[in-house]
Amino acid sequence: MDIGKKKKILVAVTGASAMLYLQSFLELLEGEDVIVHGICSEAGEKVLELEHHCLSRQLPGVSKWFDSRDFAAPPASGSAGYDAMVVIPCSMGTLASIASGITSNLIHRAADVMLKETKKLILVVRETPLNRTHLKNMLAAHDAGAVICPPHPGLYLKPKSLEEAAQTFSWRLGDQLGLTMAGRKRWGDDK
Ligand SMILES: Cc1cc2nc3c(=O)[nH]c(=O)nc-3n(C[C@H](O)[C@H](O)[C@H](O)COP(=O)(O)O)c2cc1C
Repeated sequence: MDIGKKKKILVAVTGASAMLYLQSFLELLEGEDVIVHGICSEAGEKVLELEHHCLSRQLPGVSKWFDSRDFAAPPASGSAGYDAMVVIPCSMGTLASIASGITSNLIHRAADVMLKETKKLILVVRETPLNRTHLKNMLAAHDAGAVICPPHPGLYLKPKSLEEAAQTFSWRLGDQLGLTMAGRKRWGDDK
C-alpha cells in the first residue's frame, strides 16, 4: 500500500503552441503536495522562447529537469516509479512517435514506459485543423492507454482573461491526476 506516498508526476514539454497552458498547469502543481520532474524537447525549448519568452528551467514547480537526449535518465525506466506523465503541449510529431512506439528521445521513451506500465499518460495535443494522420494517431494513442486531452478551456466557468481560461483547463488535468486543488471551480458551484 502507498499510503502517504507523494505522487510523482513527469511533465514533458514539446514544440507545440499553448505554452500558457503549461505555465498554468505547473503553477497548479506547485500548490499541490506532489513531486514534479520535467523533460523539454529541443523544439519545446524553441517554442517556449518564441511564444513564452523563457527557458524550461525558468518555469515554476519542477524540481528536476532531464535532458531529452539522455536515455540513461530515470524516466527511461519503469522502475523510476512515476505515477503519471503529462505531455503539455504535445506536438503532432511527438504524438506520432508515441502512437507508433518510436522512441527517438527521452520524452517518447518515457511515454512508452508509462503505457507499458499501465500508468496514466495524458497528451495535451495541440494542432488545428487536424489532418487524417493526426486523428489516426490520437486514436492509436488512446487505444494504447493514453488520455487525449486537447487544451480547451472551460468557458462555462466564464474566465475573464487568458490566464483564467488556462486555469480552467489546468483544473481538468488536476481532476485526471486526482489532485485536491483548493479553489477549483466547478459547474453548478454557484447554484
Ligand atoms: C512557434 C511554433 C509553434 C508551433 N506550434 C505547433 C503546434 O501547435 N502543433 C504542432 O504539432 N507543431 C507545432 N510546431 C512545430 C513543431 O515544433 C515541430 O514539428 C517539432 O519538430 C516538434 O518536435 P517535438 O515533438 O520533438 O517537440 C510549432 C513550431 C513553432 C516554431
